Amino acid sequence: MAKKASPRPVLIEPGKPPILKVQTQCVWSCPALAVPIFESEKPGYAAGTMPGDIVTAIGNAIALHDFEAKAGTLVQANGSGGPQRLILLGLGKRTDFQPDQIRWAGALLARHLRKLKITGASFYPAGLESDNWPVLAAALGEGFALGDFKFSAYKTQKAADLTGNDLAGKSPLMLSICCPEKSSAQAVEHVLAEKSAITTAANFARTVACHPGNAINPGSLTTIARTVAKANRLQFSVINAAAAEKMGMGGLCAVGAGSDSPPALIIMEYLPRARPARAAKTIAVVGKAVTFDTGGISIKPPADMGSMKYDKCGGMAVLGIMQAVAALKLPHRVIGLIPTAENTLDSSAYRPGDILRMYNGKTVDVTNTDAEGRLILADAIAYACEKFKPQALIEMSTLTGGVIVALGGVFAGLMAGDDKLAGDLIAAGQKTGERLWRLPLDKAYRKLLDSPHADMVNSGGREAHPIQGGMFLSEFVADGVPWAHLDIAGVADPKKDDRWWIGDNATGFGVRLVVEYLQSLGTA
Ligand code: BES
Ligand code: MN
Ligand code: ZN
Repeated sequence: MAKKASPRPVLIEPGKPPILKVQTQCVWSCPALAVPIFESEKPGYAAGTMPGDIVTAIGNAIALHDFEAKAGTLVQANGSGGPQRLILLGLGKRTDFQPDQIRWAGALLARHLRKLKITGASFYPAGLESDNWPVLAAALGEGFALGDFKFSAYKTQKAADLTGNDLAGKSPLMLSICCPEKSSAQAVEHVLAEKSAITTAANFARTVACHPGNAINPGSLTTIARTVAKANRLQFSVINAAAAEKMGMGGLCAVGAGSDSPPALIIMEYLPRARPARAAKTIAVVGKAVTFDTGGISIKPPADMGSMKYDKCGGMAVLGIMQAVAALKLPHRVIGLIPTAENTLDSSAYRPGDILRMYNGKTVDVTNTDAEGRLILADAIAYACEKFKPQALIEMSTLTGGVIVALGGVFAGLMAGDDKLAGDLIAAGQKTGERLWRLPLDKAYRKLLDSPHADMVNSGGREAHPIQGGMFLSEFVADGVPWAHLDIAGVADPKKDDRWWIGDNATGFGVRLVVEYLQSLGTA
């Protein structure tokens, strides 16, 4: 019987992003003044241009609340001599200080303002102004924008009762950062504008990622991607299931075969306008978008299966990256490829024992239909190499439970065929706090994928499972293409040891990281 894709709602309403601005003349009379405090430093240090009575009020508030200024803590006190409220943000010890502590402070501040139902605060950088200040101000703004994210699209209360920037029509928060030094004000303004574009893209990726499997399937995701492309003047094309079949994309077609919503390969292309094409590199970014992963015939146990709506997070990161790249007008050509399928089961679903012929001609013996991500990615990667001949290919996917066992919610697993690319990505991870830990891709692992029937199996059991994923994908990268695989299964949605400040639901992991990497390429 012919299948009909049931119509599904697409309600993507990213809210108004926070306004991040710079004050060269600090306005002391404001609803809330936020001040950073380092652990065990005397109140009043680096008071700078702060009026004396505010410095005194800060000292009193620290004493009254026994405020230790541990990272990720905050106290509020009545203001004095201007601000109605003083919000003290703990940064931990100055010796342990990293930009992530100030992102965390920014996120806490945004959520605190939402709780207070006030729409803005000023921030005075007591003790922070230094050569590094624009980087810290950028981190503050970034944390503020990411911390304000809340997914409440399906809450039926009145918008006014809800907080968070996913709600269209809700007033945006405002953060005014005081930069008394004129020279730094300009630099801060510049980085804040960049971070605003990047966090807006990351929050958009998070919003789509949070929508469940009954709203997002390959069909509705294609519509969303088309809308993003149009809004950002990106070239857009889709290889639909019929075309994929003709082209020999056996992995993509098999994984999507059991669903009413057919699989597709979404392709978005950003071309820099301002530069001659010769100066630009071509970078391909590939993301797994399994809109829901039941496991297929090798079905998953019911506990926590609902979290498999997040199995599209690699693809959502690509959506965010493409949006940010266009907003920032980066000087390189960036191709975003999103293979998308729903891994579910009916009588036309693929089965264990099936042998697939992939786009690059290699054959795969399916040992487990739950190792589906690598199958759709394999076709996308082989196609990207052949069609675009990229100078680098970065692939992101929620690929294995094994990487969660190994690295939890703190680091993503990095597997790379190229040391330079691996190093550049690790460096971008350090800068953004979206950190990567490299695992070995060594040919000694290849025998785990040996099959008596075909070129390889899709899963050789639990041994070195994340690495099996990387080894499998490496079979589909064309010779000479530097490439990296990021297994983001642990970091795409919150875990117990999560990067604390990011908040609820999908994290948007990969957007800030890859944009930082692309920015680091410069124009040389
Ligand atoms: N999407 C999952 C990986 C995953 C698991 C992501 C848990 C986030 C949380 C992937 O498709 C999968 O099912 N992997 C299996 C493969 C195995 C059965 C060969 C895994 O890692 O257990
Ligand atoms: Mn799976
Ligand atoms: Zn999966």
